[in-house]
Amino acid sequence: MPMENTLVILKPDCVARRLIGTVISRFEEKGLVVAGMRMQMIEMETAEKHYAEHKGKPFYPGLTQFITSGPVVVMALAGVEAITVVRKMIGATSGRAAEPGSIRGDYGMSKGFNLVHASDSPESAARELALYFGDGKYMPEPGEAALRWNYEY
Ligand code: RTP
Ligand code: MG
Repeated sequence: MPMENTLVILKPDCVARRLIGTVISRFEEKGLVVAGMRMQMIEMETAEKHYAEHKGKPFYPGLTQFITSGPVVVMALAGVEAITVVRKMIGATSGRAAEPGSIRGDYGMSKGFNLVHASDSPESAARELALYFGDGKYMPEPGEAALRWNYEY
């Protein structure tokens, strides 16, 4: 079972709606480890790099405008198969389509204002962690004790 790090962003709507603690709690209660965390504004240049795959799509201008519109919390989360686990926890892109029990399914009704971003593959995670934590200021190996509850036995 691979130990993975994944990049999560609590988007401006999550911060504005005072859901930072609620959403972080969901990840922590699940057993994921917060290996890095920072509150910041995202520069347009960074947003364009982050969402480069969507350039040219109708929602792209709104997406980059939104993600740069207010403070966000960027996090590196660690755990066994963390990339897949976190994507499952956040749910489908639209809050209306997302399953109840998922974060988007429980807290939102919008497709654009959908609270949280998470890397969708090992390649995305590596690229996005480098984009936001290129300074290396997260714990790439959170340590055995922190990951105690991740392991199958
Ligand atoms: P994210 O990248 O933010 O984790 O979301 P995702 O993988 O679930 O969705 P993705 O297809 O990568 O789309 C990126 C973000 O663009 C906005 N979006 N709006 N109005 C629309 O049709 C539409 N489609 C996508 C969402 O904010 C989505 O999270
Ligand atoms: Mg995506």
